[in-house]
Amino acid sequence: MATGQADPVFDRGSAGARGTVPGPGAPLPRIRLGVGPTPLQEAPRLAAALGGPRLLVKRDDLLPLGMGGNKLRKLEYLLGHALAGGADAVVTAGAHTSNHARLTAAACARLGLEAHLVLRAPDGRPPLQGNLLLDHLFGARVHLAPAEPASAAVAAIGAVADDLRAAGRCAYAFPVGGSVGRGALGYVHAVEELLTQCAERGAQPTAVFTATGSGGTHAGLLLGRRVCAQGWRAVGVLVGGDEPDAFAAETLAILRAGEGLLGFGPAQPEAWGFAPPPPPLPTPAAGEARAALAAAGGELLAGYVGAGYGDITPGVREALALTARTEGLVLDPVYTGKAMAGLIGEIRAGRLGPRDTVVFLHTGGLPGLFSRAADVLQGAGAG
Ligand SMILES: Cc1ncc(COP(=O)(O)O)c(C=O)c1O
Repeated sequence: MATGQADPVFDRGSAGARGTVPGPGAPLPRIRLGVGPTPLQEAPRLAAALGGPRLLVKRDDLLPLGMGGNKLRKLEYLLGHALAGGADAVVTAGAHTSNHARLTAAACARLGLEAHLVLRAPDGRPPLQGNLLLDHLFGARVHLAPAEPASAAVAAIGAVADDLRAAGRCAYAFPVGGSVGRGALGYVHAVEELLTQCAERGAQPTAVFTATGSGGTHAGLLLGRRVCAQGWRAVGVLVGGDEPDAFAAETLAILRAGEGLLGFGPAQPEAWGFAPPPPPLPTPAAGEARAALAAAGGELLAGYVGAGYGDITPGVREALALTARTEGLVLDPVYTGKAMAGLIGEIRAGRLGPRDTVVFLHTGGLPGLFSRAADVLQGAGAG
């Protein structure tokens, strides 16, 4: 049985407060998972080392469930919807190292839901450590899937959900990263928090940086930017080898679905949830999706991926070491390390300067650090 409290945060009936958006439609159920304002910290020694903008770090890695991270904000809406519809089981997917899977497992444990995780693993025998260890500790049912093609994991989510439904269960499913419009709503709250925290210290952000892996966090920042009428650059640093136009199209689709839910745009058919997985998006025309994303305030940096998802580039190594040694702040090598490498690259390229105030969203991912020790320290001057 669920223990949290449903909370229609975007209650369209009461006008005025931020996040209270007028428009037709039902309240959007949200189950509280302990998400509240996370610290916003200055990073003055890192800023001085880079000779660039004022830097503020939004610590979503400190969210207080299952070792923290960005996915908890999305899960408040996804699992709120699941519980409102009577779900007793949840199905999602990711790599065997997935932070999203780990946090889904933790949240389901907290709510008394059965978590089914389709986890992609290259050789079918992933090491039982990091996030996978935690998935088991949280009591999730793990379904291993081949690493490639990634689309097989989508089909596997549908198959696991179908099996559960055939067995009389009420299964709720969402894709890798929880990246659908409903999940992105969680980041509207992060933007609201951020703006309150910035106002308290007299800071006016000119850019917000995040790692982007499945697009939902970036889309959520863009949604928050729109709800709160902001003009800053919302920069997503790509962590995987996805083709940027296709990735931009996916991010836009999530943004449009979120806008539809909030009454800012046409309502989109609800993909996932209690329905089967939707078909893949058509391939966008070159440049079109990126231009549409830019019109919504979003930028994608594709130059920091290196050889692909999980590749620890020299820039990532530098970012981890510099951040740790100037601020005592720990980044992960797959997501936040790449995002910081992107931020450093933009400063060095002169696209961010002393007049800027940059918010770096720390999205978590720390359970993935320890299994990559040798790669992380290589050439970093470890004594
Ligand atoms: C630690 C961390 N940061 C950032 C991201 C990227 O978020 P999104 O998938 O919403 O793009 C992820 C996604 O798995 C993550 O685990």
